[in-house]
Amino acid sequence: MDSSSAGLPQLPFDVDGVLRLAAQSMFDTFARSTEGMLVVDRAHRIVWMSEGYQRLLPALGFNDVRQIIGRRIVEVVPNSLMPQVVDSGQAILLDLLSNKAGTFLVSRLPLRNPQGEVVGAVGLVLLNHPETTMQPLMGKFAALQHELSEARQQLAAQRRPKHTIASFIGSSPAAMEVKRQARRVAQTDASVLLLGETGTGKELLAHAIHAASRRAHMPLVSVNIAAVPDSLLEAEFFGVAPGAYTGADRKGREGKFRIADGGTLFLDEIGDMPLALQSKLLRVLQEQELEPLGSNQVLPVDVRVIAATSRDLSAMVAAGLFRADLFYRLSVVPIRVPALRERSEDIEVLVDALGEDIARRSGLPQKLLSAGALRWLRAQSWPGNIRQLRNALEQATLMTEELELTELSFDTGLPLASTATQALAPEPPLAQGHAALLPPDWQSSDLQGLPDLIGQLERAAIAKALQQTSGNRMAAARLLQISRASLYERLARWPELAC
Ligand SMILES: Nc1ncnc2c1ncn2[C@@H]1O[C@H](COP(=O)(O)OP(=O)(O)OP(=O)(O)O)[C@@H](O)[C@H]1O
Ligand SMILES: [Mg+2]
Repeated sequence: MDSSSAGLPQLPFDVDGVLRLAAQSMFDTFARSTEGMLVVDRAHRIVWMSEGYQRLLPALGFNDVRQIIGRRIVEVVPNSLMPQVVDSGQAILLDLLSNKAGTFLVSRLPLRNPQGEVVGAVGLVLLNHPETTMQPLMGKFAALQHELSEARQQLAAQRRPKHTIASFIGSSPAAMEVKRQARRVAQTDASVLLLGETGTGKELLAHAIHAASRRAHMPLVSVNIAAVPDSLLEAEFFGVAPGAYTGADRKGREGKFRIADGGTLFLDEIGDMPLALQSKLLRVLQEQELEPLGSNQVLPVDVRVIAATSRDLSAMVAAGLFRADLFYRLSVVPIRVPALRERSEDIEVLVDALGEDIARRSGLPQKLLSAGALRWLRAQSWPGNIRQLRNALEQATLMTEELELTELSFDTGLPLASTATQALAPEPPLAQGHAALLPPDWQSSDLQGLPDLIGQLERAAIAKALQQTSGNRMAAARLLQISRASLYERLARWPELAC
């Protein structure tokens, strides 16, 4: 032992002697108070064993300590890592050792001579049957493992398709044709392009096609291109290699393509994909391999792509806004999903199915529909299609006390544009100069907080833009002169507008 006392002031007692005593007494204490202790030499041979350890010998197949002194440790204690500790000089402070005698919590330390050379190792059995004595810790470990596997199952459930082809309600010729095409394409691995107005069921069909395909047991991963800012799309798709960025992405990130490996990637609002990224996407689709950002490694992917858009993609191709080669690659099988007004004979079954779902989710009884209400519903043009029909039904169900809905029940009218200019309680007169600057209907109203007013104005403006564009979000964003992403962000804030 090295007392390192050189250079220290002279002490009135023998430091080396005290340290030797300390080491001896620690050794004795461990030998007595642990379940077992043994020492091996440089050649991994057992040179000493405590009485506690000797009690474990019968379970290891030996009757007497004399049988094992001088034998190599691994011949006596299967799976022992003492040779590794001797050879590397590195301690293993805590480990679980399992062999035919049971499971033990162990500690292994190298022994060194005064020159620092490893001359052997000491092994301690700290606990016998740790699964019972360390119950609280092992219990926590088991609970965490359980939580982890539940979280994994939940994630897998989220990625499982929500709809089957039968969930596409409708028996009109147009609806039957869509379902026939969906069933056929589900048997193949071809790229699918779903075209149709907003709310016609494109996302539902994407889920349904995946569910009916051979990839059904693998993930379905969706990316709403319009909702992701352009600058983040590439990382979202292809992932980021570890170390490519600092900050949150330092550890790297899997892209949606890799997460969907073996399954299906649903590219929603594909018409909103920036041109620069279109060529990268085309390459991945053609080569079935990708390069994460900041990496020079090429990774293989096996992904079936279903894309959807409510925009006129061929017009975009003609205008140079969408790459023709990507358009053809994606639309190997194009499916045109009809608008609701093209299949108004389906309204009755749709109302039935949607009404059942609304009743189930709200806990309210399912409402009946008068003949007049049905006529009224059929006569509407439904620019927001099934989504709008569903919202109208939901609103009427919630607002009507009676069990039967009539055409009047649908006249709930969203309070969209009126809120910003509501007449409120009168206010003390304003200074003349300021009053002249106010819009006429503000002269006599209470002042609301600015954030509130701005919010109301935004909401009204979005409602108007959506109304003018028959619910086409891209066109609405253009009218409002805001980005698609910021329109989506606002629609998430006011879901009543998203029909
Ligand atoms: N044929 C259908 N049968 C039953 N429900 C439908 C049908 N089509 C659409 N829906 C329902 O209408 C709503 C809108 O459908 P979905 O989100 O699939 O439309 P979308 O075409 O993707 O619209 P957008 O272009 O706005 O994204 C969903 O709640 C969906 O479940
Ligand atoms: Mg959609």
